Amino acid sequence: MTMADEGGYLLDNQQSEAGVRFDALATLFNPATFRHIEALGIAAGWRCWEVGAGGPTVPAWLAGRVGPAGRVLATDIDVTWMSASSGYEVRRHDVGAEPAPEGGFDLVHARLVLVHVPQRTAALAAMVAALRPGGWLLLEEADPMLQPLACPDESGPAQRLANKLKHNFRTLMARRGVDLSYGRTLPRLLRGAGLAQIGADAYFPVGGVACDLLERATVAQIRDRLVAAGLATNEEIDQHLANVTAGLLDVATSPMVSAWGRKPA
Ligand SMILES: C[S@@+](CC[C@H](N)C(=O)[O-])C[C@H]1O[C@@H](n2cnc3c(N)ncnc32)[C@H](O)[C@@H]1O
Repeated sequence: MTMADEGGYLLDNQQSEAGVRFDALATLFNPATFRHIEALGIAAGWRCWEVGAGGPTVPAWLAGRVGPAGRVLATDIDVTWMSASSGYEVRRHDVGAEPAPEGGFDLVHARLVLVHVPQRTAALAAMVAALRPGGWLLLEEADPMLQPLACPDESGPAQRLANKLKHNFRTLMARRGVDLSYGRTLPRLLRGAGLAQIGADAYFPVGGVACDLLERATVAQIRDRLVAAGLATNEEIDQHLANVTAGLLDVATSPMVSAWGRKPA
């Protein structure tokens, strides 16, 4: 997996900024994720598949909730940031290209994964196939085009620069095959996959320390690609990072659409 423009996951887990990004994503989105999973009725003994887990926080929380009678399998194309000694299984697995693991899962969850997977239709089918009858699928994906701004309050040049860079980052992602309007499609896709009891909501933070950390780590990770593609200059990126560090901006994220559905018994 590389940062080459020919394809692949743009925000490579091998880069040192990936750990910062996973921590920030956990701070920003774990409370909503855990609320959704609680509402689905997670209990001791459940079997869970965490797809594209990235960091350890979600599988570790799941392992705590299902206890020793349950099972948590955490998969990713790059498992660098997870440790199998933490009460859950870790496996390298490409959800778009490989068959689903055996298991008859009570819960399959993926957050911010499918939007990066070119074979996302096959990936969704694999996740549905992995559910036991009565099991739940929870998908959480960004929808950058629902709210495309880094700074919705564009009150000056620092905010305008942030929004310009965010716009150009979207251009880079779209060229890589990222579907920038994917989040909103989740309820329809779950219904089309034959799931029942469909529900969905959306959430995004509008500023704060974790948003700043995520922004700095993300921009640092894609800096070379933005410059190489002529989508930003090093001077613009330096200025933006200085603005974020100085606390001048209220940096928002894209809306996260969470959608859930149940495999008919
Ligand atoms: C934006 S990160 C999200 C990580 C984590 N789910 C979270 O919300 O914090 C996307 C993750 O998806 C993984 N990923 C990308 N393509 C994948 C694929 N085809 N199969 C499995 N995981 C994939 C990446 O390696 C990365 O860890």
